[in-house]
Amino acid sequence: MKVTVVGAGAVGATCAENIARKQLAEELVIVDIKEGLAEGKAMDMMQTATLNGFDTKIIGSTNDYAPTADSSVVVITSGLPRKPGMTREELIGTNAGIVKSVTDNILKYSPNTILIVISNPMDTMTYLSAKASGLPKERVIGMGGILDSSRFKYRLSEAIGCSPNDLQGVVIGGHGDTTMIPLINHATYNSTPVTNFLTKEQQESVVQETMVGGATLTKLIGTSAWYAPGAAGAYLVESIVRDQKKLFPCCVYLDGEYGQKDICIGVPVVVGKNGIEKIVDYKLSSEEQEKFNKSAEAVRNMNNVLGEMKLV
Ligand code: LAC
Repeated sequence: MKVTVVGAGAVGATCAENIARKQLAEELVIVDIKEGLAEGKAMDMMQTATLNGFDTKIIGSTNDYAPTADSSVVVITSGLPRKPGMTREELIGTNAGIVKSVTDNILKYSPNTILIVISNPMDTMTYLSAKASGLPKERVIGMGGILDSSRFKYRLSEAIGCSPNDLQGVVIGGHGDTTMIPLINHATYNSTPVTNFLTKEQQESVVQETMVGGATLTKLIGTSAWYAPGAAGAYLVESIVRDQKKLFPCCVYLDGEYGQKDICIGVPVVVGKNGIEKIVDYKLSSEEQEKFNKSAEAVRNMNNVLGEMKLV
């Protein structure tokens, strides 16, 4: 099994390292446009093989996609990260061209791959990859919801004072500061609704802090976060290559599900060896559905920019 990660920046390298440490592939290829960066990070990671006990062979490549040929899964992390005060949406002008060209290059060598998109603005970049690749809709997956759900459970665990691993919770909608929807009324603490343990104010603050989770980190670090985004990418790769059929929210192409068409946005899905194996209906309340529709409208407005850029 071969897996490729495009982009050897902080998110790409962290994702690659998690893939290697979990032994998710025999071969792992890292590609970057910056001369020597992917080769250097691949070599550095290979020098942890005996320390971390993995057998994955990691190679790096500067802008040459030939070594990526026949990858089962490709993770796209290319593009600029956020700077403090910036929204993910503001990255579209630079990142759309990059993601389009990466998708085209990948498809030349791995025409049947499963594409995972992490680049921002993630929902729009997933839509762009879906359109540019022409792959079946099950094979193009945006990562955002896993990351946002993980941040949601972190915030819940801090508010309740419990282990994040005892919590279940999902965030659907767009992967934007104002478009994501942490489904607090569906979240549970070992089968008990989390709302039993939190006041209304606490619930609102958990939701709000989850939504600006990425921005909070960007402000602290000075650039986008990478540990959780990279780990979330590897978590998604794992569900595919191990055919785990896990259920979590991802950004996928909707064709009528959740009342939306011709859009990529976060909804709960089952992920296995074929990519998206099922879109799961969470039976949203009318208030949640209304939020979802508003989120879809914002994501669709960003997708329209791709048309203006003549990329779709
Ligand atoms: C974040 C970026 C990766 O949320 O979208 O940290």
